[in-house]
Amino acid sequence: MVTIRPYREETDARAVGRLIADTFGRYNLDHLERRERDFFLGPFRHAESDDPAHRAEIAKMIRSEIVLVADDGGEVVGVLRGRAERLGSLFVRGDRHRGGIGRALVERFEELAWGQGGRRIYVSATPFAVSFYLAVGYRKSTGARRMRVFDGAGYEYQPMKKVLSAPLPRRGVPTAAASTCASSGGARR
Ligand SMILES: CC(C)(COP(=O)(O)OP(=O)(O)OC[C@H]1O[C@@H](n2cnc3c(N)ncnc32)[C@H](O)[C@@H]1OP(=O)(O)O)[C@@H](O)C(=O)NCCC(=O)NCCS
Repeated sequence: MVTIRPYREETDARAVGRLIADTFGRYNLDHLERRERDFFLGPFRHAESDDPAHRAEIAKMIRSEIVLVADDGGEVVGVLRGRAERLGSLFVRGDRHRGGIGRALVERFEELAWGQGGRRIYVSATPFAVSFYLAVGYRKSTGARRMRVFDGAGYEYQPMKKVLSAPLPRRGVPTAAASTCASSGGARR
């Protein structure tokens, strides 16, 4: 069973750093040469390092007002970072894609964002994730754009937005269902 829970820096930072490095590298930066990929990974290129300075830098990068992880029996298989009106980043481990984890993280995030006064959510979606965001109710707000990510320049992204209409429980989605999802990848298909 996958549980969506708050991130705990002391125990989760290492696993979350690895998850971001692996997933970002494999699904969003795979078209780049190693050297260029490292520019876009920024501090996450050191996700395997035991150097305390690297670990501290990664822990600092992960911090945000809202950080949620998808936890499967103590193993972190997904992470979402954001704040009231901004979904900052979302990563689900590759072997767990299409198992409902991304949706569960976004639903829990929207619930928390609503509670903090957020009435719309903006996200800079990777090209890979546009179909996912469309499926969970986001819409393109402009054409594709390019931005700087750490030391890497010109990363293509798609600005997207969702207007939140009402808190999840009033939309008829039980809170428990919004916080958990099927444990095995593809189990819902
Ligand atoms: C985008 C991402 C977080 C989605 O996570 P996920 O757990 O696989 O998503 P879900 O299983 O909850 O998908 C919900 C729905 O979105 C749609 N969807 C998800 N991934 C999709 C894909 N690759 N292609 C087309 N539709 C997709 C489907 O409609 C899916 O429902 P279904 O599986 O019942 O058909 C994951 O693919 C990921 O980590 N990608 C790499 C990192 C990335 O690009 N992150 C976005 C940063 S902004």
